[in-house]
Amino acid sequence: MDTETTCKNKDITILAIESSCDETAAAVVRNGREVLSNIISSQIDLHTLYGGVVPEIASRKHTERINQVIAEALQTADMTLRDMDAIAVTYGPGLVGALLVGVSAAKAISFASGIPLIGVHHIEGHISANYIENKELEPPYVCLVVSGGHSHLVQVRDYGEYEIMGRTRDDAAGEAFDKVARAIGLGYPGGPKIDKVSKEGDPDAIKFPRAKVADAVYDFSFSGLKSAVLNYLNSCEMKGIAVCQADVAASFQKAVVDVLVEHSMNALQECGMKKFAIAGGVASNSALRSALEEECARRNITFYHPSPILCTDNAAMIGAAAYYEYCKGVRHGYDLNAVPNLKLGDKKT
Ligand code: KG4
Ligand code: ZN
Repeated sequence: MDTETTCKNKDITILAIESSCDETAAAVVRNGREVLSNIISSQIDLHTLYGGVVPEIASRKHTERINQVIAEALQTADMTLRDMDAIAVTYGPGLVGALLVGVSAAKAISFASGIPLIGVHHIEGHISANYIENKELEPPYVCLVVSGGHSHLVQVRDYGEYEIMGRTRDDAAGEAFDKVARAIGLGYPGGPKIDKVSKEGDPDAIKFPRAKVADAVYDFSFSGLKSAVLNYLNSCEMKGIAVCQADVAASFQKAVVDVLVEHSMNALQECGMKKFAIAGGVASNSALRSALEEECARRNITFYHPSPILCTDNAAMIGAAAYYEYCKGVRHGYDLNAVPNLKLGDKKT
């Protein structure tokens, strides 16, 4: 029986592991869409002390937590390794030392148990988070992936088949949120804090630039916007003008949201697609969600988005992506390694 037939005739249960940045996570996922457990051990409090993720601390913490998080995922699902059809793990992109902890744990479990190993692309995981709560969602569709490390506008042609329409030229959207939050004294992680403070501010108070990349209409550039915010803060300080934190936050947020929405809608129009999804940490942003909801409704486009817990780094999304790889027959050997700069479409086969 080939793998595709196996997937149709039998439930496939996958233990998934994610450790690419500052979340140690493990989950048990059935048939790519049903989450039986989703354990996330966040290190955010530790890194907040330093104003951002410290790679060495992240790896050390992953090492301390990984076995317990995996055990908890199996226990919560009320299952043992014997019930698993595959062990999936994020092998890139991300921090190399952090990725290595998950990859080593997955390889060790796979080797000791004989259960097949599947390496998963982290961004493919973020995109696949949409399958968990939207059982009817199937490719093709357009997905905007906006996280701390990535900003991509992707055409999802089929499961595991992506065409990148646009990407950031410099800072990722989440990175811009984090840097601006630090500049206005909100601390780390900045995204959720800017989102909250913006509700008290006027998004039209300050005119910040909406950056365009001349030769690539779907690419993003956020470093100019970040500099514009810093320049605004400096000029206020020099002139002795008090800065309204909420107005700066709301105006910055609107500048990011406007660009993300405009590029997404243009991409949908060009592809002639009527399904649109968002993914990644920034996909939790309330202004972004409501602007996209409104624009999609106006254009008769169905808008999909994961719950905030599935937008942030988690292993359930890795289990969802791994299921479709499993069904295609993808299996990895014990030479699977962490690939910190892994590109979407550069998957190891
Ligand atoms: O996907 P994620 O958890 O990790 C990466 O793969 O990077 O994304 C984290 C990023 C951080 O930059 C954080 O500030 C941002 O997502 N973020 C938000 C919000 N929640 C998280 N940005 C804007 N608004 C939010 N509500
Ligand atoms: Zn992520």
